[in-house]
Amino acid sequence: MSMLSRREWLRTTGLGVGAGVALPGLLPASQMAHAMGGGVSYADMLRQMERDVTTARAAAGPIRLMYNENPFGMSPKAKDALMGHWAEHTWYVPPIRQEVAATFAKHVGVPVENVLVTQGSSEVLSILALAYNMDGGEIVAPWPTFEDLPRWGDTLKMRVHRVPLDHNLDHDLYQMDAKIGGATKLVFVCNPNNPTSNLNDDKALRDFVGTASKRALVVVDEAYIDFVDTPGHKSMVDLVLKGENVVVSRTASKLHGLAGLRVGFAIARADIVRKLQQYVTGDPNVFGLHAANASLQDTEYQTFAKAKNREGRTLLLDTLAKLGKKAAPSQTNFVFFQAGKPVEAMQGYFRSKGYLIGRAFPPYTDWCRVSVGTPEEMKGFCEVLPGAWG
Ligand SMILES: Cc1ncc(COP(=O)(O)O)c(C=O)c1O
Repeated sequence: MSMLSRREWLRTTGLGVGAGVALPGLLPASQMAHAMGGGVSYADMLRQMERDVTTARAAAGPIRLMYNENPFGMSPKAKDALMGHWAEHTWYVPPIRQEVAATFAKHVGVPVENVLVTQGSSEVLSILALAYNMDGGEIVAPWPTFEDLPRWGDTLKMRVHRVPLDHNLDHDLYQMDAKIGGATKLVFVCNPNNPTSNLNDDKALRDFVGTASKRALVVVDEAYIDFVDTPGHKSMVDLVLKGENVVVSRTASKLHGLAGLRVGFAIARADIVRKLQQYVTGDPNVFGLHAANASLQDTEYQTFAKAKNREGRTLLLDTLAKLGKKAAPSQTNFVFFQAGKPVEAMQGYFRSKGYLIGRAFPPYTDWCRVSVGTPEEMKGFCEVLPGAWG
């Protein structure tokens, strides 16, 4: 097979849904077991997947380290679930919608009435903006952060207070608190934060959310919580269970590798869930729901993906430290470091070496955001890294 047609073939077969795929690690678990000759454990399959995903991504073109995607894609068991329900693509209101809400509720330890399943967690943010700001409300958010909620505020012609991060790249809770006023409808916090990758101080943030939620609805974006290693770190879900004015958003896009299938979750008081339900723009797709349902129960895959992320992240952070570069203490699947050169120049350098990295996040225009790829990819990335300053 010529290089081009091999590349095209790998691209179109994607991560293992085609028949006769030469890379068994890209297949659903049941087919992978067969292709690997039987008698293999799931751990063996995940190792095979790691090798084959790295091969497939290298052949598919520049390596994507720009959108904080899971390089391994969905779990092999999630692929089985998706393929096993192929016929449901013709259905409205598939029962899996209720099922995945129940699975997620169990996963986070809340009653199912506190869960809303959405089209990615971006939809949680868009419907919050619609539901709470139609009558001229204000939003308070750190800056920079994941931009969807502030952007929706702009679109809806709301006043959005973007409060600069402090010198540690933490939310400036004092300044955020000062911006909360009578017109504030939503307060946004993102922990760990994107693009900075770091966790805020647990106690300080929890105290802030507790007091702010007496004055406005507080949105806690926990898209990256699955990657956090800090011992004792706790989600804010318990505040929902206490009946506080708090919405926690989660996603199947990151650890579960389902970004393209669009599944997210809101966790909130039942009355807030009912209110948000009125603003959803459609149903999540049936394949995403089946894949998410299986992935949430596939703890072995979750442990694998988290461990591989930690391996790649540590490698990159250690290499940056050796080069004397300042980096935020990442608790996510990406690293944010100070290049001391414009991001565009760094993007150009890495593109020439076969890697795509994140965009600029003003005012941090000399900081780079690099998503964590497979450990093998991160080795390659670290080899070319010093050349960025050469
Ligand atoms: C902090 C944060 N929240 C939410 C999202 C949206 O993710 P999705 O809509 O895929 O769930 C992202 C995506 O990168 C993110 O970084």
